Amino acid sequence: MENKQCEKEGSLVLLKQGAEARVFESDFVGRKAIVKERFSKKYRHPSLDSKLTLKRLNAEARCMTKARRLGVMTPVLYAVDPVVHTLTFEFVEGPAVKDVFLDFGLNQVSKEQIDNIASQIGDAIGKLHDGGLIHGDLTTSNMLLRSGNSQLVLIDFGLSFTSTLPEDKAVDLYVLERALLSMHSSCGNVMDQILAAYRKSSKQWSSTLNKLAQVRQRGRKRTMVG
Ligand SMILES: Nc1ncnc2c1ncn2[C@@H]1O[C@H](COP(=O)(O)OP(=O)(O)OP(=O)(O)O)[C@@H](O)[C@H]1O
Ligand SMILES: [Mg+2]
Repeated sequence: MENKQCEKEGSLVLLKQGAEARVFESDFVGRKAIVKERFSKKYRHPSLDSKLTLKRLNAEARCMTKARRLGVMTPVLYAVDPVVHTLTFEFVEGPAVKDVFLDFGLNQVSKEQIDNIASQIGDAIGKLHDGGLIHGDLTTSNMLLRSGNSQLVLIDFGLSFTSTLPEDKAVDLYVLERALLSMHSSCGNVMDQILAAYRKSSKQWSSTLNKLAQVRQRGRKRTMVG
């Protein structure tokens, strides 16, 4: 992470301020950690708001734990604090896939590395989907590569939910496809490599990829007819 001129808040260093969450670097019993705080939206009713925030906090923790059970690497969840609405995770050292893809052709990033990452991504999504988990925000910033072994670690389960519908799985893949096309076109057809790995990993690949073809034709929104 480049943004090191961050604000200090006690022992917390702000890394990212989003619309619904703040992400801090901190430590948890001596280990480097990430603290993600969900905060309220001012226009909602306070007690309703607190309930919703808590629901989403718990959902994120549950989905992340479920992904792990399905054999997909995620940061270790250290703590959930329902009072101040925070999740504390293991800090994963290593670059985001986004930065590696953007560096392709520049800083010693080879075609082999891109191929390896693409196959890890397809494999991971296949495992999530077969377990009935939709990530909901598959972008290359929500994928980290652990330093040392370059293992893919999925983060940010804030929009995740459980579903076994091909439609939901196809939209999950479509979001990633759009992100790759708009941001990483110089990496060649990474999506095809991801989908090849997905086919190997997911038993239900055929219904999902058929749906994906339909979703591509109409965009991600469901049609209201029929
Ligand atoms: N476990 C982790 N280890 C290292 N860096 C992390 C970790 N979790 C998050 N980050 C960094 O913080 C950034 C923001 O985290 P995250 O994606 O979870 O939040 P967000 O995008 O603001 O969430 P949301 O989409 O739910 O509003 C990530 O892109 C990544 O750079
Ligand atoms: Mg994110």
